[in-house]
Amino acid sequence: MGACQALHPHSQKPSSPSTNSSNPGYFLSKPVCAWLACGFLSLALLHLLCCSPAGTQQAVFSPLLQLFNTSSASVSSVPEGGGQSCDYSEGQWVWAPGHARRYNATECNVKDSENCVRNGRPDTGYLDWRWQPAAAGCELPAFDAAAFLAAVRGKHVAFVGDSMARNQAESLVCLLGASAFPSLLVYRDADPGVFQFRRWAFPSHGVTVSVYWAPFLARATGRVDDYHLPYSSVYLDTLAERWSAEADTMDVAVVSAGHWFLKWAMFYNGSEVLGVHMLPESNHTEIGFVSPFREVIRRSVDRLLIGSGGGGDARGDRTVVLATISPSHFEKAWDDPTTCARKGPYKDEEKEVDGEAAELRRVVKEEASAAAARSDGGATTIKVLDVTKLATMRPDGHPGAYMHRDPFAPGKPEKMLNDCLHSCLPGPVDTFNEILLQLLTKR
Ligand SMILES: *[C@@H]1O[C@H](CO)[C@@H](O)[C@H](O)[C@H]1NC(C)=O
Ligand SMILES: *[C@@H]1O[C@H](CO)[C@@H](O)[C@H](O)[C@H]1NC(C)=O
Ligand SMILES: *[C@@H]1O[C@H](CO)[C@@H](O)[C@H](O)[C@H]1NC(C)=O
Ligand SMILES: *[C@@H]1O[C@H](CO)[C@@H](O)[C@H](O)[C@H]1NC(C)=O
Repeated sequence: MGACQALHPHSQKPSSPSTNSSNPGYFLSKPVCAWLACGFLSLALLHLLCCSPAGTQQAVFSPLLQLFNTSSASVSSVPEGGGQSCDYSEGQWVWAPGHARRYNATECNVKDSENCVRNGRPDTGYLDWRWQPAAAGCELPAFDAAAFLAAVRGKHVAFVGDSMARNQAESLVCLLGASAFPSLLVYRDADPGVFQFRRWAFPSHGVTVSVYWAPFLARATGRVDDYHLPYSSVYLDTLAERWSAEADTMDVAVVSAGHWFLKWAMFYNGSEVLGVHMLPESNHTEIGFVSPFREVIRRSVDRLLIGSGGGGDARGDRTVVLATISPSHFEKAWDDPTTCARKGPYKDEEKEVDGEAAELRRVVKEEASAAAARSDGGATTIKVLDVTKLATMRPDGHPGAYMHRDPFAPGKPEKMLNDCLHSCLPGPVDTFNEILLQLLTKR
């Protein structure tokens, strides 16, 4: 059915339901987003019962001119953390008017489907929250572009993984560009609508920021390239070509993947099928998503460990940042225009990190510890960017129907494609980069 395809950067073309009879008959054509919607249905009720207060709060900030408060872009509204690192993974969103209104996404050329303001999203309260870490004495300072660029002066910051990695890279470029440090798009895919590989330069500090789209991190074919195909073939023994070939050029590598492992896949070791996920008709063993994901994370980190045989280690230290999963929020049917139409964060008791998100998060944390032990004393620092909790609590931060421009202008359609996976820009993903800055500057 191809219904989710616009959620991923390579597949903006409209598609028809997958009725291709040349598909192997044993792969049933399933609603593409069923996996996303599943498990969130019960929350639809909660949604109806719970009225977000954001509706009243947003009125104060409604004029468009006040939407972007770039003057505060590099001003910390909270005290600096004081040098030592904090645990940012647990905490809560607190009301902070203006906090996330840092840039105009049109000016930093974000993907149209994430430019919620331009697309006419009327409520703006989702830009008025800041993340308050739970740990005593910990504050998360607002993003400081000068501090970030100084921390990575002369370096190559690479985001590797699926469209969440790309979403975060775009956020970073916007956050940096909204300051006094102009950026330059130095490379993009031939098709400007495609966001698979991009590179930006910040000449004032000799910094480059790149995105490498590799949704499985490993080499993959099939559905990753063409949404009409029923599944992806993933070669766990081989990393995706482009990023792994350029791994030696990366000084900071932010690895963010996971969502694709939850979908239809056949996993290979060389030419041998190891097993499948969600392909019962294939007669291969179901092996779930945890072990393939773990294998790929381990291999990817090994590729990035300096002194692990990758060669080209002359660049010096490297920081590998493993991001944990940020879950989607399809609360109703995937094509219901209100499936993620909330206007504020969940309340504390309303939502927990569980299920697939908890498992993927656990794998990343375990593999990060294991890799840190393997690289002990080496030139590679391993860090975890644990955003699962803070992302879980923000069902309001997705484009939803506003992945389309003025989606309700023609009247209220009964069904439409929604993006309840990525973050609006600006939006909650900017907080990922606030934490990234702290990870890069604190021990
Ligand atoms: C803009 O930022 C300044 C400085 O942080 C703050 O005092 C002000 O309230 C913000 N204005 C809006 C509209 O958010
Ligand atoms: C954002 O920037 C674009 C291009 O400069 C401009 O047309 C638009 O009005 C701006 N939007 C807001 C809300 O300031
Ligand atoms: C893949 O195959 C190689 C050699 O054929 C073997 O050493 C390795 O253990 C296999 N890996 C997995 C995950 O089965
Ligand atoms: C799977 O097994 C069933 C029952 O043995 C058989 O009918 C079917 O053709 C097999 N499918 C494939 C793809 O081999």
